[in-house]
Amino acid sequence: MVVARVPFIAGNWKMNLDHLQAVAFVQKLHWALKDAKHDAASVEVGVFPPYTDLRTVQTLLDADKIPFALGAQDLSTQDAGAYTGEISGAFLAKLHCGYVIIGHSERRQYHAESDDVVAAKVQAALRHGLVPVICVGETAEDLEKFGASAVPVGQLEVALEGVPADADIVVAYEPVWAIGSGQAATPEQAQDVCATLRRVVGDKLGADAAARTRVLYGGSVKSGNIASFMREPDVDGALVGGASLVVDEFAAIIRFQKHVGV
Ligand code: PGA
Repeated sequence: MVVARVPFIAGNWKMNLDHLQAVAFVQKLHWALKDAKHDAASVEVGVFPPYTDLRTVQTLLDADKIPFALGAQDLSTQDAGAYTGEISGAFLAKLHCGYVIIGHSERRQYHAESDDVVAAKVQAALRHGLVPVICVGETAEDLEKFGASAVPVGQLEVALEGVPADADIVVAYEPVWAIGSGQAATPEQAQDVCATLRRVVGDKLGADAAARTRVLYGGSVKSGNIASFMREPDVDGALVGGASLVVDEFAAIIRFQKHVGV
């Protein structure tokens, strides 16, 4: 059975744009996309602002009926209680977040997030009806030692532990060496690992999940290379960092279909 997966272009703002800048950014992006070439049904656009922007952005999206999905960049493993500084998935769900990024390499690197913590966060997201965007990827050192797939496959296997077969998830393959470096993976490399990760989803959650789950590529995605990734059969979208902060650039990435010819 062939399942049409709606492409997903997700902007990870990281620690950029405060809540006032966020308003201007979202409005400008919405205007930039208001033309016939962007069909909201044919590509899903997601913005992932810092926590402190979420309420403001949610209000703006709801008030102006802007069809962007909203997501957070992280969440707590816990639902409530004495966890100073943490943010519960319950709070994110109340702010109409549909998604939450989990296991980004910057969390793994700077906050020592282990595969087990990532797995606990995936469970926390699912408990609150949030779609986890599960990030996996190898460092340059891993690539040299083990090749491209071994580390991301291992990370994804742990993250999917205990995930029900009918769960809605997104997987993002982000080679650490490609993030913010200007040196993206080649489309062939991305396709290879994304196809392997889809097989992992199939092994863990079954064929239906493998067919419907979107697997994104992330790492130095720009308007100039997005079409080459989107032509690959197992790349269903992109998780975009730096280029998601520039309105015209992000709008051009969202309009990749113009170049792919679909
Ligand atoms: P980049 O970041 O697009 O700036 O390389 C991607 C990411 O970290 O999600």
